[in-house]
Amino acid sequence: MAGEEPITMLTAYDAVTARLVEDSGVDVVLVGDSMGNAVLGHDDTLPVTLDEMASRVGAVARGTDEVLVVADMPFLSFGADEGESVRNCGRMLKEEGANAVKLESGPHTVDLTERLSDLGIPVMAHLGLTPQSVNRSGYTRQATDREEAAEILELARAHEDAGAFALVLEHVPSNLAAQVTEALDIPTIGIGAGGDCDGQVLVFTDVVGLAESSPPFAEQFGDVRSEVTDAVADYVAAVRDGEFPAEEHGGTVDELDDLY
Ligand code: KIV
Repeated sequence: MAGEEPITMLTAYDAVTARLVEDSGVDVVLVGDSMGNAVLGHDDTLPVTLDEMASRVGAVARGTDEVLVVADMPFLSFGADEGESVRNCGRMLKEEGANAVKLESGPHTVDLTERLSDLGIPVMAHLGLTPQSVNRSGYTRQATDREEAAEILELARAHEDAGAFALVLEHVPSNLAAQVTEALDIPTIGIGAGGDCDGQVLVFTDVVGLAESSPPFAEQFGDVRSEVTDAVADYVAAVRDGEFPAEEHGGTVDELDDLY
């Protein structure tokens, strides 16, 4: 699809949502470690565990049919030891049904990307703002000077050469993202990286209006928070007013009358 129709990627963290996302026409479902903030109540993505990711990837894979499912590898589940990294990434495909993994990338993931790709584990790379490095780089826009921008371009090429099949570019200047997109054959998928990438990704809770707060580059396309609040408030009121349950929600059995 690169260079033809923009690729759409969206996160999902459970089977029900993943089914809705697939039915809405999204091309790629990312089981992002953004689940840490988006649905697990953490302040950042660092506490997300491999088991939590595996459980959510399995749910998303079971809830979808055709869409490409990408498992986002959590903080420290890769990168420290090659054998362990390979086993952890392989588990997402072998046991949970993912089609690929995403690694928050850097100089330390070039060789690992090659090893995983050789073993048949497709890798989506991720450069720019990498939230697992929040304690080093914060959540600010990255690569705003020539030196850092050149490093992103070099790392992007290195990951493509290592076998990555796509590259997420997060919160980098749009003109840098455009040049990286031009320089690579593999598709770039942007988030806060302008309109010249081959595709776009956002976090589900931001898109549907469920998030309490969203990053400046996200866009809210719905107001699910109000829908949910209204529906639940209506349920509570109906129970308290005696309107629910009604006749049709229950049933009587005549022979059980006059038990005493
Ligand atoms: O975890 C995530 O959802 C991500 C995307 C925002 C790219 O990494």
